[in-house]
Amino acid sequence: MTRAVITREPRRDTSLDRPDFDMSANVGGVTLPDAVLTASGCAAAGRELEPFLDLERIGAVVTKSVMLAPRSGRPTPRMAETPSGMLNSIGLQGPGIDVFLERDLRWLRDRGIRTVVSIAGGSVDEFTKLAQKLRHVEGLSAIEVNISCPNVEDRGQVFACEPSAAAAVLSTVRRNTMPSVPVLAKLSPDVTDIVEIARSVVAAGADGLSLINTLLGMVIDVDTMRPALAGVTGGLSGPAIRPVAVRCVYQVHAALPDVPILGMGGIRHGVDALEFILAGASAVSVGTATFNDPSAPERVSRQLAWALLDRGFTSLADAVGYAHRAPDTVARPAASVEPEVVDVLDEEPVADVAER
Ligand SMILES: Cc1cc2nc3c(=O)[nH]c(=O)nc-3n(C[C@H](O)[C@H](O)[C@H](O)COP(=O)(O)O)c2cc1C
Repeated sequence: MTRAVITREPRRDTSLDRPDFDMSANVGGVTLPDAVLTASGCAAAGRELEPFLDLERIGAVVTKSVMLAPRSGRPTPRMAETPSGMLNSIGLQGPGIDVFLERDLRWLRDRGIRTVVSIAGGSVDEFTKLAQKLRHVEGLSAIEVNISCPNVEDRGQVFACEPSAAAAVLSTVRRNTMPSVPVLAKLSPDVTDIVEIARSVVAAGADGLSLINTLLGMVIDVDTMRPALAGVTGGLSGPAIRPVAVRCVYQVHAALPDVPILGMGGIRHGVDALEFILAGASAVSVGTATFNDPSAPERVSRQLAWALLDRGFTSLADAVGYAHRAPDTVARPAASVEPEVVDVLDEEPVADVAER
């Protein structure tokens, strides 16, 4: 019979109030008052979320990656459900940087909403031009550089999968933007050694890292017996990818402990976010969960604050990387170290994460 160790979460009503707790976070030299942000591509430029949460209270809105010119994205269908996640092949649909600055960024700035602008390009030159467009924009919290896009000058090889190409992009963006605005490199998990890519973009000037973008996946429709997405492959997101994302954050924090990490991938609840913080993220982004619950970033922040308080932390910053500490050295009597073990087949199912 299967046996499992069940750890029970304290049952606290986190639905209503938020504790008085220091949730401030450092993302590459800028301090945000809250450590939970939206994720690029999952909340456009924030406007759609406005009816559901107080956008001024969350850490920041991370905007959909914008390119130099307007783009219509990839053909439909471009979304497919997967176990514990979703697959999308939206492509980088958007209005182009000029309309974005004039319309979307203006809307965010008029409301005093902290903003991380995500940019994407098909060549180093395009990233340079995007960076130059942002150079004189006041008040940005950070720039996130989405390098999970094909390099048209190198057989469509994704920038994020090649250390020197990734470094070339980060180097030009860092050189062409305001020094006071942190530049975050958003990395792909679809590589053999994410630490190698992280080292190369940090050496090129990245002030922090966003981990992780979606994983490349595919669904076959068994009725049509063809790929479910018109674009054939797509990016996998949601809870299915969380263990991969936590692993990436843990490995990169172990190698580069002083580099701030914005962690993301399948965060639905405060305790999911807590995993990322303990692994070494200084802040987190909530993406796919907002499609199901548009108030998710604010709710996750509240739940995370309670989860940290329950574990005796006095600030979020104190918990960053806590899972990396040395093993406990104090010998405990054998009886007291036995975890609670139950036969999972005899137990009621553990509460779904949404209830934790
Ligand atoms: C529909 C959709 C669109 C996305 N668009 C972008 C994008 O434009 N730029 C980007 O860097 N990441 C994009 N992402 C990736 C997310 O920002 C995030 O890294 C990833 O989905 C993992 O987080 P999650 O599981 O909380 O969604 C997109 C994800 C989804 C689901």
